[in-house]
Amino acid sequence: MKLQLYVPDGRYQPWIDGFAEALPEAQCLTWEDSKNEQVDYAVVWRPPLEMLRGRTDLKAVFNLGAGVDGILSLRDTDANALPAGVPIVRLDDAGMAAQMIDYVTHAVLRYFRRLDEYALAQQAGTWRFLKPHRRADFTIGVMGVGTLGAQIAKSLAGFGFPVRGWSRTAREVEGVQGFAGEAGQAGFLDGLRVLVNVLPLTPETENILDAGLLGKLAKGAYLVNVARGPHLVEEDLLAAVQSGQVAGAMLDVFRTEPLPADHPFWSEPRITITPHIAALTLREDSIEQIAGKIRALRAGQPIAGVVDLQRGY
Ligand code: NAP
Ligand code: GLV
Repeated sequence: MKLQLYVPDGRYQPWIDGFAEALPEAQCLTWEDSKNEQVDYAVVWRPPLEMLRGRTDLKAVFNLGAGVDGILSLRDTDANALPAGVPIVRLDDAGMAAQMIDYVTHAVLRYFRRLDEYALAQQAGTWRFLKPHRRADFTIGVMGVGTLGAQIAKSLAGFGFPVRGWSRTAREVEGVQGFAGEAGQAGFLDGLRVLVNVLPLTPETENILDAGLLGKLAKGAYLVNVARGPHLVEEDLLAAVQSGQVAGAMLDVFRTEPLPADHPFWSEPRITITPHIAALTLREDSIEQIAGKIRALRAGQPIAGVVDLQRGY
């Protein structure tokens, strides 16, 4: 059995060593060294078009992340970019949910306890008390209650906040009030104090965080975007922050990454920027999960995480 690997940074050795340990029956090759070979499985993050186009040898493509927009967007330049009939398999959690919970909880508690405002007050050398927010009024909405969003929502509910979740189809998450589809969106957004975006990037969700949506939140709401940059209309967020409709935002993802040096977000003190680190792909967890799925496929068993190409996630 042969695996073919593609990682954009070219640091292959730890992946090769990890697969050698987790799946000793497999020979692990880099894409660059095996372009003309027939292999069984591809393991990729944001692969080049030529790696997948027209392939007939692959039995599955494993994506080294939860979001598959980097693979599916290859279809925008070439309708035949993906190998026909070959399942694309995303990472299911693989250690990401715990990281997301840390990140989002930090953002929410910092805003709830007004620590961002105290940090600005410190910079101005000001000692002053701010009226605390009331927990019972502090409704948080999580857009996307799938593998990661459901765990984030449940964890926030555990802090005693009223939490709402929004998904495409109806979902039940313990302690979370569920809303679904376009019909449920207005009720979901109404009066939210914090909006957390954990949606996949699809044609339906691109640009979803625009002026219209931000205007439906409570005045002075806070935005946390840990999903994808193209969900957010960046100039609409800046305008909403400047008007006071949105108090601030913690953003991990951007339309252009790295965020360009002259981007206005850098100089907006109410916007906190992190470099796409909310939930990193953990090598050992990912290898273990992919190795388990390859074994299941070879035994003819079903696996979780197969992407629905029509739906886009
Ligand atoms: P997932 O399990 O596929 O969950 C996606 C959720 O979004 C589901 O609840 C789904 O609804 C909902 N959804 C999709 N399209 C929708 C629509 N049009 N309207 C309403 N709800 C919609 O994905 P995941 O594993 O939780 O990951 C989510 C995203 O997080 C990834 O796609 C990726 O972009 C991002 N991510 C970011 C980082 C980072 O470091 N910043 C790390 C990992 C992942 P249903 O439940 O009805 O299907
Ligand atoms: C990271 O952004 C991922 O989708 O896993």
